[in-house]
This record gives sequence, structure tokens and C-alpha cells, in this order.
Amino acid sequence: MTAERRALASEPEARVRITTEESRLIQEIVEGYCGVTHGLDSGFFLERRVGPRLEHLGLSSYTEYYHYLRSGPDGHAELVTLVEQLTTHETYFFREEYQLDAFREEILTDLVDRLGSRKRLSIWSAGCSTGEEVYTLAMILLDDGRFQDWHVRIVGSDISREVLAKARAARYSERSFRTTPPETIARYFEADGDYRRVADEVRDLCSFAQINLLETERYRILGSCNVIFCRNVLMYLAAEARSQVVDAFYDRLAPGGWLLLGHSESLLNVSTRFELANLEKDLVYRRAR
Ligand SMILES: C[S@@+](CC[C@H](N)C(=O)[O-])C[C@H]1O[C@@H](n2cnc3c(N)ncnc32)[C@H](O)[C@@H]1O
Repeated sequence: MTAERRALASEPEARVRITTEESRLIQEIVEGYCGVTHGLDSGFFLERRVGPRLEHLGLSSYTEYYHYLRSGPDGHAELVTLVEQLTTHETYFFREEYQLDAFREEILTDLVDRLGSRKRLSIWSAGCSTGEEVYTLAMILLDDGRFQDWHVRIVGSDISREVLAKARAARYSERSFRTTPPETIARYFEADGDYRRVADEVRDLCSFAQINLLETERYRILGSCNVIFCRNVLMYLAAEARSQVVDAFYDRLAPGGWLLLGHSESLLNVSTRFELANLEKDLVYRRAR
């Protein structure tokens, strides 16, 4: 039994059973809104996650709930709340260290070489959750030292306004620091009760925006990017949504720009537009120069 399933099993059993057809209809509506499909084929998971919403709204069946989502007065707001229940926001500072080494040791040098005359760097963390990834990248750039007199912009985006509020607050509990070196904590964080707050010099490089990755037209607000991190997001999306999003990433990247995915994600059967770069520390994707 996985940890996620164990946690679900310990939640109170749903009073109303979901049918296969109801499950399919709710999945369809969620997938149409944000592309997320991973795990939603499990009636058990849906009952545990959607059941409390039914009770909260005083509805007696998942069919009623489906109609509420589709055409209820607050249907869209409810869909946003539902997606919050169905998605995972797991993240922490310095996640997937070997990939960050590739970024630190190889990609940054490429960026300095190619962009050094203009000294402008734009990085997008797509699906950044509570912001640890965004601040990690800023700390890496500050440690590097070569970007001190550059115009650096690191934008984190997510579909969830709840996680973005936490990202903007920049205040984290111990579980976000499971792989953060002590010297980094000492340099870039200030103690704040049981929490730690990200220092202003790091925050100054970062901003956040609410973007549903399926709304590819919205990517325009980001301008052209030199690096896109989209880690541990595509794995939750349906195949069609994945291709659509990755295609739009390609258009958003400047020539020679880099795309970094999570360690269990690849562009196999998703897109053939990117080059695969075999770096010493990792395999990553890039738009041709
Ligand atoms: C597991 S977290 C990944 C966080 C971080 N990138 C990391 O690797 O640590 C996945 C995030 O993707 C977001 N997400 C899922 N579907 C999305 C969509 N269609 N548009 C934008 N964000 C989405 C979720 O809200 C969640 O915060």
C-alpha cells in the first residue's frame, strides 16, 4: 500500500458511493479545466476527496455534484476548490539536487556565454506550488555571483491561488528544508518562530503569477524565457494536455533556451521539437539555437 493510499484509507469513509459513470463525468470536467488526470480513475480516491464537498454543499449524489459543477451558480468556484483537493502540492527546497547541479555547473555557464552582452535572464518555474523551487533557483544564482549586475527575473506560476499566497509569504516550516544545506539556511533565511522566512535579497529576484497551464495564451505575460522549470507537473496531466503545454513552452523559450522536467518525466510521445542535451549531470531538453 502506498503512503498516499494509506493516508486516504485513514480518512473517514464516504457516505455516498460513486458510480463508474459519475467518476468518469467528474474526471472529464477536471481534465477539461486543468488537464489533471493522474489518480482520478480511482473511485476510492474520488470518494475520499469529493465526498466531503458533497456534504458541504448538502448534495445527495455525485450526479447532483456534477450538475452543480457544470451549471450551478458557483460551479466554477467549486471546480477550483475541487482541483485544490485533487492535486498534490508536494515540494521542498533544493529538490532533485543532481539536476540543480547540472543547472549550476553547466547551464548557467551557457547562459553567461550567450547572454552576457545583454545581461538579461528570465526563468519560469511552471507549477511552482508553494514557491520553494523558485527561491532555490534565486539562491543558486546569488551563490554563483556572475549575475550580480544582470537584470534577473524568476517567475513562479501555479493554478492554485492558495499555494501562491504561501509562496508570496515566503515563510516555511521544517519539512521544506529536508535537503537544504545548513550554510544555505544560515545565509538566506531569517528565523521566524517555528518557521524560517526567505531573505529579501532572494525575494527581490522572484515574483509569482496565477497561470493555468492549459491557458497557453496567458503565457504571453511572461515574455520570452531562457529557462523553464516544469518539474513534477506534467506527470499528473493527460497526454493531450501534456503535448499542448510542452508545445507552448517551446514557443515561450528563446532560441537555445532550456526546459527542465522532473526526474520521472520525459518528452517521449509528447513532443519532438526539443533537442535532448546530454549534460554531465543530467539529460535535459533545449530549444535549438
Ligand atoms: C507536485 S507540485 C510540483 C512543485 C515543484 N515544481 C516541484 O517539483 O517541487 C505540482 C503543482 O502543479 C500544479 N498544477 C497542476 N496542474 C496545473 C495546471 N493545469 N496549471 C498550473 N499548475 C498546475 C499544482 O497546483 C501543484 O502545485
